Amino acid sequence: MRLSHFFPTLLSVALAARPFLNEPDTGIEEVFGSLPAGTLPKLSLIAGLPDFEWAAKRVLSPFSYMYFRSGASGEYSYRNNLEAFHRYRFRPRVMQDVTNVASTLPTTLLGHNFSAPIFISPCALAGLAHPESELGLVRAAAAENILYMPSLFANLSIEDISAAKGEGQVLFQQVNRAPTDNTTQALFRRIESSGAKAIVFTVDAVAPRNRHRSGRFGFDQGDDSYDLATVSLFTLLSSRMSDTDITYIYSGTPTSSSKP
Ligand SMILES: *[C@@H]1O[C@H](CO)[C@@H](O)[C@H](O)[C@H]1NC(C)=O
Ligand SMILES: *[C@@H]1O[C@H](CO)[C@@H](O)[C@H](O)[C@H]1NC(C)=O
Ligand SMILES: *[C@@H]1O[C@H](CO)[C@@H](O)[C@H](O)[C@H]1NC(C)=O
Repeated sequence: MRLSHFFPTLLSVALAARPFLNEPDTGIEEVFGSLPAGTLPKLSLIAGLPDFEWAAKRVLSPFSYMYFRSGASGEYSYRNNLEAFHRYRFRPRVMQDVTNVASTLPTTLLGHNFSAPIFISPCALAGLAHPESELGLVRAAAAENILYMPSLFANLSIEDISAAKGEGQVLFQQVNRAPTDNTTQALFRRIESSGAKAIVFTVDAVAPRNRHRSGRFGFDQGDDSYDLATVSLFTLLSSRMSDTDITYIYSGTPTSSSKP
């Protein structure tokens, strides 16, 4: 047998033995399987995060589910990211004093205090999932004192989301580059006026994406246009801002950085 034939055969056997599961098989189907499509399961029955995904698939319209679920191209990176994350292991540590372990949960992000080291990331169009759109997210973040980063492509305006903030609530605003430098700069100013404490500037969307899943619904099929978000462009935009202490985070890079 030629080696070039042998290896693909081995690979396909390995893949068949371990099929990709979007949600782990922890008995979700047995508990929710008989719920009619479109019915929300009782919150008390939700056992873990994967259950939310499973419920979303049954409750959202096919378009809305696709909108939140689609990944780049054939979704190989999406699958790899899910699997890679689950290869993290906890090192067992026993016979330790855990009486005050809950007090280690609160943290600071860019100097702001939060109750936990997790945040609601910038996800566009919450209105595709719920009629209250981003209001539910900003209020939930306030209630639990965790960070919320509204997306520029939210159903509600930056100002409307800001108006729904709780007492002393901190928001970081996500932004993509607008078609011209001046409109991007104007957007920065608007975000600053809204009271956001940081700008999360997306820099990894330099070209229209190509997503097979959303392509079936007629969008996200990419073209050959480019929209470069370079450091020199960003430095230029920042230098044109009024004197401000607002922090910028480059989103889409492995590291982040404050305003130069
Ligand atoms: C964050 O919490 C610490 C400790 O409780 C407190 O000293 C500090 O003033 C808080 N910072 C803000 C910005 O609220
Ligand atoms: C949110 O915006 C999307 C896209 O424009 C729209 O289809 C949806 O109906 C909106 N949802 C709400 C609750 O406004
Ligand atoms: C963009 O802003 C710069 C600096 O504020 C200004 O000189 C320039 O005229 C503006 N360009 C447009 C097209 O408005």
